[in-house]
Amino acid sequence: MASAQWPCLILALFSVLVASGFPRSHARLLEKRSLLEGEVNGIDVYSTKISCKVTSRFAHNVVTTRAVNRADTAKEVSFDVELPKTAFITNFTLTIDGVTYPGNVKEKEVAKKQYEKAVSQGKTAGLVKASGRKLEKFTVSVNVAAGSKITFELTYEELLKRHKGKYEMYLKVQPKQLVKHFEIEADIFEPQGISTLDAEASFITNDLLGSALTKSFSGKKGHVSFKPSLDQQRSCPTCTESLLNGDFTITYDVNRESPANVQIVNGYFVHFFAPQGLPTVPKNVVFVIDISGSMHGRKMEQTKDALLKILDDVKEEDYLNFILFSGDVITWKDNLVQATPENIQEARTFVRNIQDQGMTNINDGLLRGISMLNKAREEHRVPERSTSIIIMLTDGDANTGESRPPKIQENVRNAIGGKFPLYNLGFGDNLNFNFLESMALENHGIARRIYEDSDANLQLQGFYEEVANPLLTSVEVEYPENAILDLTKNTYQHFYDGSEIVVAGRLVDKDMNNFKADVKGHGAINDLTFTEEVDMMEMEKALQKQDYIFGNYIERLWAYLTIEQLLEKRKNALGDEKENLTAQALDLSLKYHFVTPLTSMVVTKPEDNENQMAIADKPGEGGHGDYQSPLTPYYYVDGDPHFIIQVPEKDDAICFNIDEEPGTVLSLIEDPITGFTVNGQIIGDKRGSPNSETRKTYFGKLGIANTQMDFWIEVTTEKITLWNAAAQSTFSWLDTVTVTQDGLSVTINRKKNIVVSFGDGVTFVVVLHQVWKKHPVHQDFLGFYVVDSHRMSAQTHGLLGQFFHPFDFKVSDIHSGSDPAKPHATMVVKNHRLTVTRGSQKDYRKDVSIGTKVDCWFVHNNGQGLIDGVHSDYIVPDLF
Ligand SMILES: *[C@@H]1O[C@H](CO)[C@@H](O)[C@H](O)[C@H]1NC(C)=O
Ligand SMILES: *[C@@H]1O[C@H](CO)[C@@H](O)[C@H](O)[C@H]1NC(C)=O
Repeated sequence: MASAQWPCLILALFSVLVASGFPRSHARLLEKRSLLEGEVNGIDVYSTKISCKVTSRFAHNVVTTRAVNRADTAKEVSFDVELPKTAFITNFTLTIDGVTYPGNVKEKEVAKKQYEKAVSQGKTAGLVKASGRKLEKFTVSVNVAAGSKITFELTYEELLKRHKGKYEMYLKVQPKQLVKHFEIEADIFEPQGISTLDAEASFITNDLLGSALTKSFSGKKGHVSFKPSLDQQRSCPTCTESLLNGDFTITYDVNRESPANVQIVNGYFVHFFAPQGLPTVPKNVVFVIDISGSMHGRKMEQTKDALLKILDDVKEEDYLNFILFSGDVITWKDNLVQATPENIQEARTFVRNIQDQGMTNINDGLLRGISMLNKAREEHRVPERSTSIIIMLTDGDANTGESRPPKIQENVRNAIGGKFPLYNLGFGDNLNFNFLESMALENHGIARRIYEDSDANLQLQGFYEEVANPLLTSVEVEYPENAILDLTKNTYQHFYDGSEIVVAGRLVDKDMNNFKADVKGHGAINDLTFTEEVDMMEMEKALQKQDYIFGNYIERLWAYLTIEQLLEKRKNALGDEKENLTAQALDLSLKYHFVTPLTSMVVTKPEDNENQMAIADKPGEGGHGDYQSPLTPYYYVDGDPHFIIQVPEKDDAICFNIDEEPGTVLSLIEDPITGFTVNGQIIGDKRGSPNSETRKTYFGKLGIANTQMDFWIEVTTEKITLWNAAAQSTFSWLDTVTVTQDGLSVTINRKKNIVVSFGDGVTFVVVLHQVWKKHPVHQDFLGFYVVDSHRMSAQTHGLLGQFFHPFDFKVSDIHSGSDPAKPHATMVVKNHRLTVTRGSQKDYRKDVSIGTKVDCWFVHNNGQGLIDGVHSDYIVPDLF
């Protein structure tokens, strides 16, 4: 039997934003561990192999690491793999002293219960988090007994997408120590034939690697091997440190003699389409650029630099315009103008003179751009066969004009009316990327992050290059009626040079003899139809050679693409439709063993289903992904209403007070998507002083409701009332009771607090503060804590809810004020520059009498500048 000590391993994958939301203590814990391992030399990692098999762009990668604990005590062994964010983990196994513990993909709800149990017992042993721009990191540590051997094996799959004329596969290499057998082995099989293939390591030149790296291709097969000897791994001839640390990138492309290629195996087909040599369709481009105050400095310089470079590349037949938005909207020209040399010269001058200023009015900026494109078309100012695109760049959230994301989305959707794509570029982290993505997706575009870094200008320019050359518009891929099932997306507004359209599906009749597909599109000069006819017998022969790869790759490719598209659609779906999309994506994830945002990988001890060891989760995209650790940051309001917003990325908190008349009802949370609202009513103290300087105010009554779920809870300092449909139940603060129904659970802890949970993902705690009955001033009041909000949508608003979005602030210029314990500072937040004061508040969630101190930056004047709008905007007429 394995002599290893069983830890409980928990792995959770987090996307960029969710990752930054992960409590710091965890990240530190892991850092410490890996440092420790570097120092303690008992663990010998003697083999690491990365094996990649790519068949028709579908990559199947297996990372295997073997280690032995040569120390005389138990030691922790870590296994780190960085994999592309677009990949799905499909398998993970641990083998300890010959005993294998396999992974199973389960629905997240099921797996998460184990996770929470383990976390509550303090047994976290690993996690996966975002790492860099394109990767996320899978980490697991296992305690291994003296003398024991351990093998980790992780498998992930991914459909490689064509960008700028090539497929790119990233492998992050970072063994942290010399490894006796280190090997990367990639086999590529492409039925169209391989036209180029290259492999590069960022950490060393290919020359220096010499014999360690080989790459070759011929016909349909390509091969890359990287096998550095121990000596070749040393960072210097006598060093024991490894120089292997960085990206290993394989790039290739396939022959393009034919515009399309269809492959069919076992009744599943995939259709690749990328015609060459067509003339570029002239474009009408409107750049809508954020010039608000937060763009000041490097971001603005990089943006101008990128725009100037883009101007160099604009083709003379194109039309363009610039729209700059801050609080106001400025346009370069009243109408789109042709990119003649004179106009380009004038545009350069205009770009060089852009100045940052003011607030962020995304709505008006976009609407102006859209109406300009619409007008140009209506008034025939642009060529008949041209195509339009709109590219918006912003670095923050809308904060003036129409600033409600749902409303902006509605306005934009109505204005564009599906006529052309909107591309949203989000510059930096201080913005609501979900909103940008959702808006772009519903207008046939995409959103891209521009990372704040020295190459931000190149990222911007690179994006433009991708969309600079539309070869076809209104592309439709058609198959014979009634011959095809379960088709993936088959209409595209544009086909851009250097990309590829991929459609997959299932044949109704597996044994059909020939297969025909038409791709229709509008070109620069005429309308085109590309017809692809496949002789099934011939294709079978051609595909036979790939037996050595994996037989069902087309079926898996189809499943991957279908899940990806379902998850994407789900982002903008509501109610029943969302549930249906979720159910379909979940079914496929389970069937094909993919760790997606809806599933988790659970590693079990054999014959012991109860004792689950490891869970790997795929993060949801954007900030409010599908899954967060139960130790998420939280938000609360307590006392004389003191609002506390924890910002875990900063390991810090922001606080503010709201001073309002007793009787006033304030909106704390409002989520139009999930239907949650939480409102609180202010009460005064016993003196009833009208002087707002000295009077104390509190929340005396809270209303928690979800109209979609048809229930309401009213909490006062005396009683708790629940309504569900027509039924009403009333409880007192002297009860200890749990009420559960339809995913809702309300637990009253006698005289302490109420915990309200809505399934998994939304949990509130209401704390009761009871004061001495005869206290001359104070009276009983309530505190309200949001301990889990990850199921709430990105459109959540309200005094607390608005901070559930990804959100950042910078504090500088800390200087002492009149009270040395309370220094002042300048805070830049939501494009405002505020003077703030260091202070502290109490968190009474765990202990209502003493509380825990929370240090925070206090924003004066009812949170002005921090909260969207002014505090009186949050006054609502009544509790529900
Ligand atoms: C997972 O990997 C293990 C070890 O290679 C293998 O035995 C098992 O069949 C794999 N499971 C799946 C579902 O592919
Ligand atoms: C989703 O809806 C479609 C029809 O709109 C239906 O055929 C399908 O069964 C539904 N899927 C699930 C999983 O509910």
